[in-house]
Amino acid sequence: MCGIVAYVGSQGAMDVVVEGLRRLEYRGYDSAGVAVQTPRPDGRWALATEKRAGKLVNLEKALAERPLPAGTVGIGHTRWATHGGPTDLNAHPHLDDHGRVAVVHNGIIENFAELREELAGRGHTLRSETDTEVVAHLLGEVFAGDLAEAMRVVCRRLEGAFTLVAVHADQPGVVVGARRNSPLVVGRGVGENFLASDVAAFIAFTREAVELGQDQVVELRADGVSVTDFEGRPAVVREYHVDWDASAAEKGGYDYFMLKEIAEQPKAVADTLLGRIGADGQLTLDELRLDDADLRAVEKVVIVACGTAYHAGAIAKYAIEHWTRVPCEVEVASEFRYRDPILDERTLVIAISQSGETMDTLMALRHAREQGAKVLAICNTNGSTIPRESDAVLYTHAGPEVAVASTKAFLTQLVACYLVALYLGQVRGTKWGDEILAVIEELRDAPKQVEQVLRTMEPVRELARSLADARAVLFLGRHVGYPVALEGALKLKELAYMHAEGFAAGELKHGPIALIEEGLPVVVVAPSPRGRSVLHDKVVSNIQEIRARGARTIVIAEEGDEAVAPYADHLIRIPATPVLLQPLVATVPLQVFACELATAKGHEVDQPRNLAKSVTVE
Ligand code: M6R
Repeated sequence: MCGIVAYVGSQGAMDVVVEGLRRLEYRGYDSAGVAVQTPRPDGRWALATEKRAGKLVNLEKALAERPLPAGTVGIGHTRWATHGGPTDLNAHPHLDDHGRVAVVHNGIIENFAELREELAGRGHTLRSETDTEVVAHLLGEVFAGDLAEAMRVVCRRLEGAFTLVAVHADQPGVVVGARRNSPLVVGRGVGENFLASDVAAFIAFTREAVELGQDQVVELRADGVSVTDFEGRPAVVREYHVDWDASAAEKGGYDYFMLKEIAEQPKAVADTLLGRIGADGQLTLDELRLDDADLRAVEKVVIVACGTAYHAGAIAKYAIEHWTRVPCEVEVASEFRYRDPILDERTLVIAISQSGETMDTLMALRHAREQGAKVLAICNTNGSTIPRESDAVLYTHAGPEVAVASTKAFLTQLVACYLVALYLGQVRGTKWGDEILAVIEELRDAPKQVEQVLRTMEPVRELARSLADARAVLFLGRHVGYPVALEGALKLKELAYMHAEGFAAGELKHGPIALIEEGLPVVVVAPSPRGRSVLHDKVVSNIQEIRARGARTIVIAEEGDEAVAPYADHLIRIPATPVLLQPLVATVPLQVFACELATAKGHEVDQPRNLAKSVTVE
């Protein structure tokens, strides 16, 4: 939610900042703006700013028509609107009354109304409807030559979640940032330094990053970086090397990031499996600050996540309960802490998040830890807040996921969930070593199987194009096919803006079957006939029931499943897999289907309306 970039060095700051914003536009695209420090003829310095509602291209056009004066220190912002609509006026940066300080912000300042009133009482004129503008005015008031100190003073007054980045005309060569519950990373270059919401913004310049902790203020100069807490005490930070390069964050010849990310899935799955099995045949996790005794003592697993990550969790439940016999609950993170869940030190909470910054998930994990539960994070973003605040971490190796609609992150989350389930089975002794190895071998086949699905997607694309005018699409599944159906529906909603619902196939007769009318497309995820055949038989009956009522049936079924064929108006074949692993292949056609249908409707696939990639507000 909102992307922030800042640069201090010797290059033209605007080029670096706008390039960074381009890479962060997935975080929000309601408006974009920049500010640069620039020398005045009288020897003093000034700030020049430009901002525009709408996508970054609007700002780029404005800058091309009326370039800002040159400068080597600048900040930029791409916005996902919270307070105040997506207008030029509400776009960041925001300035104080004298135009001497410029601020960009990600998050929500919860006490902004009270601060606004206070500032108005002291004669300030607040021009926008944003919560951010109060920070510019407060910084302008307390600044006495040291912007970092002013930032510390102001941050102590703020409530809520925020990343703030500011420049002051009276302190040239300096950018200051602060963070609480919202992401901010430092990029360390040679004679230049960067700040950004995500390393993707500066990866073309440096792969050396510094992770900032909660409630820290960073002062950035061309030749150095210093970090303190909000009280001014020097802070300890973690430096790390980013293990992917700029090309990973480019479209690489694809029309959309989503298409590229769908195609990258075989590699992402293989990378996530890499290095997990030691020479002794034992599974290893990345950062396990939990000992085996803790894991053996676990009496309940609770999975918290949002959106697509929640669907990965819903699938994980089946594997965890089946392989470990430990009860497992799955809950959308935004609901979790409000129902006063029953948690204690024998509860293992698994928080799944691609970005590692999703506020709902972060708040759920904090609540769980407060209640004494242990938290294991499954995350794709090294150094992000969720893994940092967890007791153990298993990183997925999907590489940067830029398209708002999650694809490769989902498949790697599934792999990570299977690994965690097997790990629990290993330490608790509910699975023999050879049984674990057999599942690992099956998982190792997954990249090839996903590749095979990707090779056969042309009929799915054709079908999607033919359904561009459909009013609604339903998705049905049973067992692990049910969360797959939910994921198929979510993809279609977010990309094609269509009414799409996923149902447990057995629930249909309890109400939703009334929705079936002549020609309604219904996608059915058929379980393997080689698994629990009763499950397969039931789904075949469900397909017949909806077809009898006029549905146009689109059936995803494994190769060799001939029982479904007579009732499928469209048959999408997937390779035969063990029942629990089927989501790894069954989800892929649904991703392709949604992407193609959205394209046929002329929608922006990578940046669907109203959405942002990383949701850092509750
Ligand atoms: O970064 P996270 O995995 O925590 O994000 C969770 C959801 O916001 C995310 O999966 C969202 O549902 C996707 N846009 C769906 O494609």
